[in-house]
Amino acid sequence: MLHQKKILLGITGSIAAYKSALLARELQRRGAEVRVIMTPSATEFITPLTLATLTGHPVHSDFTENKDSGEWTNHVELGLWGDAFLIAPATAQTLSAMVSGTCDNFLMAVHLSSRCPVIAAPAMDLDMFQHEATQSNLKILKSRGVPIIEPESGALASGLEGKGRMAEPESIANWLENWFRSKAPLAEKKVVITAGPTHEPIDAVRFISNRSSGKMGYALATELNALGADVHLISGPVQLSAPAGVQVTRVETAIEMHTIALKSFETADIGIATAAVADYRAKSSSSVKLHRDEIPTAIQLQENPDILADWGKRKRGTQVLIGFALETDEGVESAKSKLARKNLDFIVLNSTQNEGAGFGTDTNQISIFEQNGKSHIFDLKSKKEVARDIVTILLTHLPQ
Ligand code: CTP
Repeated sequence: MLHQKKILLGITGSIAAYKSALLARELQRRGAEVRVIMTPSATEFITPLTLATLTGHPVHSDFTENKDSGEWTNHVELGLWGDAFLIAPATAQTLSAMVSGTCDNFLMAVHLSSRCPVIAAPAMDLDMFQHEATQSNLKILKSRGVPIIEPESGALASGLEGKGRMAEPESIANWLENWFRSKAPLAEKKVVITAGPTHEPIDAVRFISNRSSGKMGYALATELNALGADVHLISGPVQLSAPAGVQVTRVETAIEMHTIALKSFETADIGIATAAVADYRAKSSSSVKLHRDEIPTAIQLQENPDILADWGKRKRGTQVLIGFALETDEGVESAKSKLARKNLDFIVLNSTQNEGAGFGTDTNQISIFEQNGKSHIFDLKSKKEVARDIVTILLTHLPQ
């Protein structure tokens, strides 16, 4: 959730400022871009050089960059840059200044001019934290919508024990991740995706399958997870590693995929069928390897269940269903017929007639046909970009 998020990290004058270096590092490790602002007193606890070196950007603590030339730091620009302004540690003095709108240092000027949400992680001695004035300031800030990352209890710099220690960098990073997730467009949406081929056994080593690589389903799972969805990917055998943050269930056969997919769809908001499920399986298979002279020259086939069609029969309320159609001809009529027959909200068509589209490739060229009659034709793009296009249309199908 922190990938490419712009975090403005404000450091104020507390001994906990030393933890801010680790915090900056942790946020960057999770993919965030970090810029640091310090109050003059914070620079007595940790040097701007440390933070500038860690983040790769100059640290701002004064209105003027260069007193001789009159070059100044644009606090308005910095305030507009961030997706979130995290003040960690936030001293009792800073919390009070935030309440009163005091603007006596560069950090407080950014605080007043920032349009992004401001979040504070207090750090102070236990008596300062418990003081009525501090508690009242925290209450006012919360009522204004400023989230407070609660301090932890433990040994304090004063030698006392109690609540007041700034939360650990890892806990703050986790808190931020959850916070971004709760604000994401697909927060609290559960998505189930089928992906890859299935293997239908003939014997212990041979199977019937197809050329599906699973890349489209995995790209969709990654994209949906980045938008805050809780993604369950049911994957046939593929050479891809599980996307971070996605729950993956690996299966072999259509029957296994069908059982798990039906169960998962019961509680899902969105179902996406990208899998190239084998339409048929061998009527009987051997649990041991068959020798050449034991292999039948004709294999009797039995139809596999249609997972997407069964989702379509069970679809209720606001559940959204998306299917895929891979065709070797133009395929529009066939895709539209599947859209209606399988009770879908929209279908994604890719035709192998178009170079760079279909199985195995890193690119795809899709058209989308919606149940409401709208259609969209896209250019050849990477599967990651295609996933974005599909999700953009998906968002228009969700209840507002
Ligand atoms: N699908 C599925 N289970 C199956 C077969 C297909 O869930 N047993 C899903 C695919 O994941 C895809 C869509 O159905 O989203 C279209 O698959 P396709 O096999 O092309 O559909 P069919 O109805 O089998 O049509 P065709 O006659 O072209 O084979």
